[in-house]
Amino acid sequence: MFSRRHAIRIGLTAGALGVTGATGWTAQALSGRGTRGTAAAAAAVPAAPVTPFSVPLTRPPVLAPVRRSATTDYYSVVMTKARREILPGTTTELLTYNGSFPGPTIRARSGRTVVVKQVNSLSMPTSVHLHGGNNPTADDGGAMDTIAPGATRTYTYANSQPGATLWMHDHAHHMESEHVYRGLSNVYLLGDDTEDALGLPSGEFEVPLVLRDARFDADAQLVYEMDDAFNRTTILVNGRPWPVLKVKGRKYRFRLVNSCNLRIFALQLSDGSAMTQIGSDGGLLARPATATQLLLSPGERADLVIDFAQYRPGTQLVLKNLLGPGPVEEVGQVMRFDVGARVHDSSRVPATLASLPTPRRATVERSFELKMDETSASPQGYINGKGYDPDRIDTTVRWGTTEVWTVTNASTLIPHNFHIHLVQFRVLERDGAPVTGAEAGRKDTVLLLPGQTVKLQVTFDSHRGVFPYHCHLIDHSAMGMMANLKVV
Ligand code: C2O
Ligand code: CU
Ligand code: CU
Repeated sequence: MFSRRHAIRIGLTAGALGVTGATGWTAQALSGRGTRGTAAAAAAVPAAPVTPFSVPLTRPPVLAPVRRSATTDYYSVVMTKARREILPGTTTELLTYNGSFPGPTIRARSGRTVVVKQVNSLSMPTSVHLHGGNNPTADDGGAMDTIAPGATRTYTYANSQPGATLWMHDHAHHMESEHVYRGLSNVYLLGDDTEDALGLPSGEFEVPLVLRDARFDADAQLVYEMDDAFNRTTILVNGRPWPVLKVKGRKYRFRLVNSCNLRIFALQLSDGSAMTQIGSDGGLLARPATATQLLLSPGERADLVIDFAQYRPGTQLVLKNLLGPGPVEEVGQVMRFDVGARVHDSSRVPATLASLPTPRRATVERSFELKMDETSASPQGYINGKGYDPDRIDTTVRWGTTEVWTVTNASTLIPHNFHIHLVQFRVLERDGAPVTGAEAGRKDTVLLLPGQTVKLQVTFDSHRGVFPYHCHLIDHSAMGMMANLKVV
């Protein structure tokens, strides 16, 4: 059913990413239409279904609480099928939270509780996970802890963590990849007072950008096949194909989420200018980090500030993607910013953004090896040689300990990443070298190109219980690249 040609091999504009030292890296450059990995895959794919930059960017609606108390905001969400316009002039059937694609944004505050009542009106079991959230097992949306069709479940989030771009998505085992692909995810923006005091761009100048890819058939319906990286070549931002955003000549804050199942983006502005990253998965960085390229793998988030005052009004700035797979005419571009007149801008990006806790001394070391069958007709995924068994505890951690986890991608062609529920970790090293810039911030998901090794420092001092860790190229976790940790 799955074949090797479906394995995700990513193309790379040679040397552009500074990651060419990775062993086994497939240097398949993004090139013109027709190079989709294999001739077989290429024949099946129609041309881009819409002219890039012809559709305006929209923002997912912000969900209004049904009730507010002194301490808590209560929300109600219904999971339901809906038809929405993605490709102009036609509708696509989707799995949605409250009928919107992507789901509605929840705006939460550190220290204020959020309670979400989730009603499953679909015909499949679902589970709702708050990715990046520090929550007890019962509220974590476990893979087996599902909501039956017709049933209701209430999740409680204490939000006892700093402001961050969090993300909610389906996690029902073996179904999460299709459910997320068909629309079950939404942004969860956690704010706090310290962040508010910084004076960052806000209101209409703070824009979530949920990036993903999709494959459409001739009737504009989503095609889901497991591990179908080569054919998902339509790029959507907030559910719009290659959209355009008219911006004023001032600073904007963009809250980026890679909500793809498999695609890794290497983002770059078309003029090659530096982007200022102010936050990563778990919140603000200690100080802004500038880079001309931003690698974002599935589940990772980036908080970016772009100052459009530096451009002449009328400038059309494309957010490009340098990584395949797929033809450059399609996957090589993400969206366009059309710059308008310069306006007064009182927002700022202070040189100091947050104080990150000094990592504690680690007393336990562990190693994890991610691997996938690269030759089998029905590949399975493994962590330390084992496929996911929901009833097995793979790693037992003593509460309060700080550990160093060494994680290796042992695949030779296939990139992976590594996500741990419950915690924010710090990346200490990548391939033996200390990480810098945005990668040194709070992370819960880290990219591992083929052959790469990262060292992570993790402290388990919040909830006890059972939590998964897995590759967040979620077609892979659905194939078994997932395991359980238990904090006792
Ligand atoms: Cu986005 Cu198991 O998580
Ligand atoms: Cu998660
Ligand atoms: Cu993987």
